[in-house]
Amino acid sequence: MENKKIGIFDSGIGGVTVLKAILKILPDEDYIYYSDSIHNPYGDKKDEEIINICDKIVQTLINQNCKCIVIACNTASAKAVEYLRNKYTNIPFIAIEPAYKMVYDYSYNEPTLVMATKGTIESERFKLLYEKYNNNKTYLIPCVGLADMIEKGQLSEIKTYLEKNISQYRGKIRNVVLGCTHYPLIKSEIQEVLGDIKFFYGAENLAKHLKDILQENNLLEKNTGKIQFIDSQNLTEKEERFFSILRD
Ligand code: DGL
Repeated sequence: MENKKIGIFDSGIGGVTVLKAILKILPDEDYIYYSDSIHNPYGDKKDEEIINICDKIVQTLINQNCKCIVIACNTASAKAVEYLRNKYTNIPFIAIEPAYKMVYDYSYNEPTLVMATKGTIESERFKLLYEKYNNNKTYLIPCVGLADMIEKGQLSEIKTYLEKNISQYRGKIRNVVLGCTHYPLIKSEIQEVLGDIKFFYGAENLAKHLKDILQENNLLEKNTGKIQFIDSQNLTEKEERFFSILRD
């Protein structure tokens, strides 16, 4: 019988930053990573459209023998996880979200910048998180277009974008929440603009949570650590970039 796998998806290759954290604690599981280039970016799409897109991806992953699904996209988590959990009740969903609670737990008194897509910042789900852990010293920045530039590897555009959109916070903030799975890929560029800051990212906590959920559901396996990559547009350059970041 074919091994059961962990399915993981994002609008593109950004979710590799989540998979990297997962592999550190679950190296022997088998994985399918789904990069949805056709619909990228998700950040500015309407809720219903994202729900439909995610539903189709989840069906594909379930058909490929996945035992649980990791949503490695903050925007998709914010808009679709509730729908997916209600529809697919037999399969656990583990969903990334901006690590704003981590700021509350570890650095509550420091001024904070939350960077995320417009879709995430404006979502009901993020609003609840924000209201619960608000330190009253937080700036919310919808970074329209940034994930797309990272997806395309447009380094000079990224630098110009950051200079234009976040340099005004230099010296004013200490914490930066990376609320999109693409953003850890440009940590050094963000640091260059903002100087001395602390990053908050939810992937390590997600990985621990995933392990607990698999354990609770008796789904932990020792397989071969195989990682299968699917891109909805069959872009080989995406696959190459994905594996080069993964092995970096
Ligand atoms: N990587 C995704 C996230 O974490 C979304 C990027 C996009 O497609 O806009 O929000």
